Amino acid sequence: MSDAIRYEILGDIAVLTAQNPPVNALGIDMRKGLLAGIERAEADGAKAVLIYGEGRTYFAGADIREFGKPMVDPGLPDLCGRIEASKLIVVSAMHGTALGGGLEVALSSHYRIAVPSAKMGLPEVNLGILPGAGGTQRLPRVAGTEAALEMITTGRPIGAAEALDKGIIDRVTEGEPRAIGLAYAQELLDAAAPRRPVCDMPAPKAVDFDARHDALLKKGRGQLSPATALRAVQAACEAVSFDAGILRERELFMELMGSDQRLGMIHAFFSERAVSKLPELKGVSPRLLAEIAVIGGGTMGAGIATAALLSGLKVTLLEMTEEAAAAARGRIEGNLQGAVKRGKISADRYETLTTQALVLATDYNALAQVDLVIEAVFEDMAVKKTVFTQLDAVCKPGGILASNTSYLDINEIAACTKRPEDVIGLHFFSPAHVMKLLEVVVADKTAIDVVATGFALGKMLGKITVRAGVCDGFIGNRILSTYRTCADHMILDGASPYQIDAAMTAFGFAMGPFEVADLAGLDIGWAVRKRLAPTRDPRERVPSFPDKLCEEGHFGQKTGKGYYVYEAGKRGGTPNPEVQGLIDANRTELGITPRDFSDEEITRRYMCAMVNEAALVVGEGIARRPLDVDMTLLFGYGFPRYRGGPLKWADIQGLDGILSDIQAYAKEDDFFWQPAPLLQQLVAEGRTFEDLNRENS
Ligand code: CAA
Repeated sequence: MSDAIRYEILGDIAVLTAQNPPVNALGIDMRKGLLAGIERAEADGAKAVLIYGEGRTYFAGADIREFGKPMVDPGLPDLCGRIEASKLIVVSAMHGTALGGGLEVALSSHYRIAVPSAKMGLPEVNLGILPGAGGTQRLPRVAGTEAALEMITTGRPIGAAEALDKGIIDRVTEGEPRAIGLAYAQELLDAAAPRRPVCDMPAPKAVDFDARHDALLKKGRGQLSPATALRAVQAACEAVSFDAGILRERELFMELMGSDQRLGMIHAFFSERAVSKLPELKGVSPRLLAEIAVIGGGTMGAGIATAALLSGLKVTLLEMTEEAAAAARGRIEGNLQGAVKRGKISADRYETLTTQALVLATDYNALAQVDLVIEAVFEDMAVKKTVFTQLDAVCKPGGILASNTSYLDINEIAACTKRPEDVIGLHFFSPAHVMKLLEVVVADKTAIDVVATGFALGKMLGKITVRAGVCDGFIGNRILSTYRTCADHMILDGASPYQIDAAMTAFGFAMGPFEVADLAGLDIGWAVRKRLAPTRDPRERVPSFPDKLCEEGHFGQKTGKGYYVYEAGKRGGTPNPEVQGLIDANRTELGITPRDFSDEEITRRYMCAMVNEAALVVGEGIARRPLDVDMTLLFGYGFPRYRGGPLKWADIQGLDGILSDIQAYAKEDDFFWQPAPLLQQLVAEGRTFEDLNRENS
């Protein structure tokens, strides 16, 4: 027997205990152990088998680290078939998270019991695959087609009560999985309950699969796994036999397993976890965080305060006047009411948060004792310096002073204090209580325990926290600014903002760059361009149409007009007819004869610009690892998760092809298209960004 499964026999019941921490993933040792356990139980003359997991969970799924490697027998589908076919009564007792292959093992058991806190689901679509061990065939047989489709195509887990309601499990009982499982197995034996293989149940009812398939593809912006998983459920309903359905499931599973989307999504799964595990933070204790302050109660400040309150922190919000403080309170209360409506917090908790945990202030002295202050005031260096000088004077020793700046130099801000080691950037994304990304910007003198505290805060707030170095725009906005420039250049040369937006949403982005600009406010980019103008290199191609749009007072959604026109009460906008005139005038002024761009060329140039800047960001140490860039773009900029991030995408495309395209574009504009040294080096050495991830994690 393998060590991963402990075997014992108690009376008529053989007990198979999974012991593969942390999540009892069904790697080869577990599969071998389960198979051997079933066979031994049969040979030992047991009448029933109990399967459960030790530690925090029943099996949380197949071992994802084995994906892409040659499959070693027994495979999970065969193992599930073998468990189901056993002549003994097989019972699974679930706790923790019975996910993916875990739930599939449970569905192959003849009876299922769970503790009330157990969660179960088939999240494979989120890894770019589908349940490949009979889940698409067995779940619809026990839960019905509709419920199975919902669980399989969204990947969302459900709780034990709902699973009971849907017929996925037979019983919910408080207690330890071992104890409740043993009692249930004994009860079944005493009652002479029959074996109950799901494969013998009638095929579930068919629905209009074609219509749903197309709707899923559209909803997933090109993500294949949910729509392909639906086809497997279709086979459960329509195949001539259970076995034929299993074969179809396997075929579709292998199709997805061989896809680039599977590579992208599994990269996202592991990177999401690796991103906050920085080697330099190993063993470093964060400073105490119980009470924080936020300066500025606009959309950003109120969002940060909301996120902090929801995580259990006490928050003092500082505004300059009583009216501004009242408005800030209104915004935070509005956000929290939203949380009540969505069932995230109770009305009582709302009361406590707004009356006890939140304090509004208009005097800096109110910040004297807080552990951390996050400044979210107007994006202007002089204003920031005034704020930090005052903070330096009033805050307690060891209190951390953070700026939420999106672009400005944290070193310069830190230099106006007597405690640069306590100064850090905490760059949130708006709305801060919704967006998952937090960039922790580490300045030259920031103390390591202050960095650790930034990461600890990110964890408390449930953010994906990425370490960034100081430069204009840090990781995300710096890369954004480059691919936006590339888009502007394509417009000068003949493309339209709408064609670019359409090409990039077809690539899988949630929104195109010009829709994003309208949403964020065109005045932001305008201010940045004005700030950078004095130091701009004369070789840079600078379009004037974006400035002209702003000069006419069009700042995007907030003014009702930008690249698109927005009508009150309507979602989304329609192209603004005035924009083409501004572009035409700009082309005439620069003597450009416009040419046609295919959608493929737009995508390729846009992505090459993104990858090249990302390679500079990694090469300069602004991002520690390529995966830090990937997670920034995924969680802050709507990059399609199924592509893994720009540098994973680049690896999949092939770095040599990307470099040679950049070199070809450089023949038109050798200032913008300067190949990143790191990209050249990787191509020369035949290495990938993934190699760098491995070496630096
Ligand atoms: N395989 C391999 N490693 C896994 C894993 C899996 N299925 N699930 C989790 N891990 C690893 C994580 O990478 C992490 O490792 P590190 O500590 O080295 O970073 C560790 O286990 C703990 O995981 P988390 O940090 O995520 O712990 P958590 O308590 O926050 O969450 C969890 C636990 C809910 C199980 C979460 O890890 C999770 O969602 N796991 C994936 C579950 C899943 O997708 N299962 C389906 C697998 S595919 C499948 O089963 C295909 C099939 O049909 C054959």
